[in-house]
Amino acid sequence: MSLALHEHASACAKVILLGEHSVVHGQPALAAGLPEALQLRATRLDDPGAPLRCSIPAWDLDFTLAEVSTHPVARACGDVISHCDGPITGWRIDGTTAIVARAGLGSSAAITVALARLVLGPAAPIESVVEASIVGERVFHGTPSGIDSEVAARGGVLRFVRGQPPEALTLARPLPLVIVPSGVERNTADQVAKVHRALERWPAIARPVVETLGRIANAGQEELARGDFARFGELADMAHALLGALGVSSPVLDRLCAQARAHGAFGAKLTGAGGGGCIVAVPSGPAEDLAAVFRAEGLQPLCVEVRAA
Ligand code: MEV
Repeated sequence: MSLALHEHASACAKVILLGEHSVVHGQPALAAGLPEALQLRATRLDDPGAPLRCSIPAWDLDFTLAEVSTHPVARACGDVISHCDGPITGWRIDGTTAIVARAGLGSSAAITVALARLVLGPAAPIESVVEASIVGERVFHGTPSGIDSEVAARGGVLRFVRGQPPEALTLARPLPLVIVPSGVERNTADQVAKVHRALERWPAIARPVVETLGRIANAGQEELARGDFARFGELADMAHALLGALGVSSPVLDRLCAQARAHGAFGAKLTGAGGGGCIVAVPSGPAEDLAAVFRAEGLQPLCVEVRAA
């Protein structure tokens, strides 16, 4: 067991561009990292026997590893630290972030990746960091595909197929996006279960929908390589409609997407597990102009430019 933690570690948040949910069922997905989204800093406690404490005020998190039986985040963090043979007492970890939690932007993967890095250090192979993160992700999500952990650890833009090493993509030019948090929280495991249910009840219908989402991800990859964001936006619209058919959208997400399109976006879709969380829109003009539409409603949109690592 390593009794020390490294002083700093960070991880990316993620935005799934295309292929959420279908990725769980073996289809390709495209996702991008939002760099340095979570920063963790470790300091020694005076009492080496006191349980490790973790505090991330922006996410209303403040727990100790003595609470693993009652606090799911404590349990996930405890599992990651134990997996990495790190210390479970004598340390305090403080986190800062500008990303909203439980909104489809990979907050749980970010915390588990950054934590693994605090234990394993900056030179640790990325595969070990991802493996440790997935141990924690299982506490949150049951059977995660692994896409969130890969993006949180690697950043850039990835093509991901479950069980295969991710492929880093290059883009013709950076892709501007407006990410709009709906303010509605949701549970990823419940959302993933809805798609399992649709596949069980209507296999002949739901299976082709899932496969089409995979084809959309393939087509999206080509449009990103070409830099044709208008066509990429059309694909985003199609993906949103199909995700709705699988039952993972919601009236508020549908409304936000329609609003983005009505204000000139090339396309818009839910991102992540859906049900609540965020939408992502591809602006046709200045991203700030589209963001202003949502800001006027009291929402807190985020303008980002997605680029290769
Ligand atoms: C969640 O960010 C993405 C999902 O596809 C679940 C997963 O891939 O594990 C909904």
